[in-house]
Amino acid sequence: MGDERPIGVFDSGLGGLTVAKEIFRLMPGERIIYLGDTARVPYGNKSEEAIKRFGLQDARMLLDMDIKLLIAACNTVSSVALSHLEQHVKDIPVIGVVWPGARAATSKSVEKRIGVIGTAATIRSGSYAKAINSIDPNIKVYGKPCPLFVPLVEEGLIDSDITRAAVQHYLYEMVDLGIDCLILGCTHYPILMEAIQGAVGNRIQLIDSALWVAKEAQNILKATNAAAAGDTGGFTLSRFLVTDLTPNFEPVAEALLGAGIPNIEKIAVEELEKKF
Ligand code: DGL
Repeated sequence: MGDERPIGVFDSGLGGLTVAKEIFRLMPGERIIYLGDTARVPYGNKSEEAIKRFGLQDARMLLDMDIKLLIAACNTVSSVALSHLEQHVKDIPVIGVVWPGARAATSKSVEKRIGVIGTAATIRSGSYAKAINSIDPNIKVYGKPCPLFVPLVEEGLIDSDITRAAVQHYLYEMVDLGIDCLILGCTHYPILMEAIQGAVGNRIQLIDSALWVAKEAQNILKATNAAAAGDTGGFTLSRFLVTDLTPNFEPVAEALLGAGIPNIEKIAVEELEKKF
């Protein structure tokens, strides 16, 4: 018999839908409750203290909904606040996106030179470098914050000259560093995969953390006998909670999830603030 309880996935906004998409692709039987803190996005330029508080509030909201696994889909929360979450969440497994991405890159890098791109907070935290070097201290890790990528995706400017120029601006130095893997350390970046690959060339392998966190979730559910038994056909969120409904919400959400979006429930940000 399977465990039909949902997986809780949260992010600072809509970007974590790229993680939900990979979970559905890999495990079409699983149900997901998604929480996007769209009222307070971005987290990537906030202080460590705020990111920890927001992350824990998001987690608490989902924990009240009888979930079997909690995924911090946000790279910024995973980088700055994962151990803080782990201290407070004892009953179910908690996973972030940093370790799965770091493990994947470490196993694939032959040159032992890995690039990481993400928000300012993610790169400042050194989270990917710490994870990679705890697996292999001989690997050189080069981080680069790319703060314009999130607003470009949110504006729907995915296949555009301005995006290609921004990608070029941030990444031209990376190419000369001899890296052979580049971790897309932010929820929104998989959407820019084509532009990024175009800028860095095919010699550099892009590592999509979303894909690897879905694989990790699958392993944990199997190991704890908590996988769902049925097949829901995938790509339907059981619940889709947001703290604000922004005007271009729907096209952005659909592009990130790669599917139509279900009923949206708006919750007041004050509800989250009560949680911690
Ligand atoms: N979800 C964030 C991340 O993956 C990107 C958006 C933000 O800055 O909150 O780091």
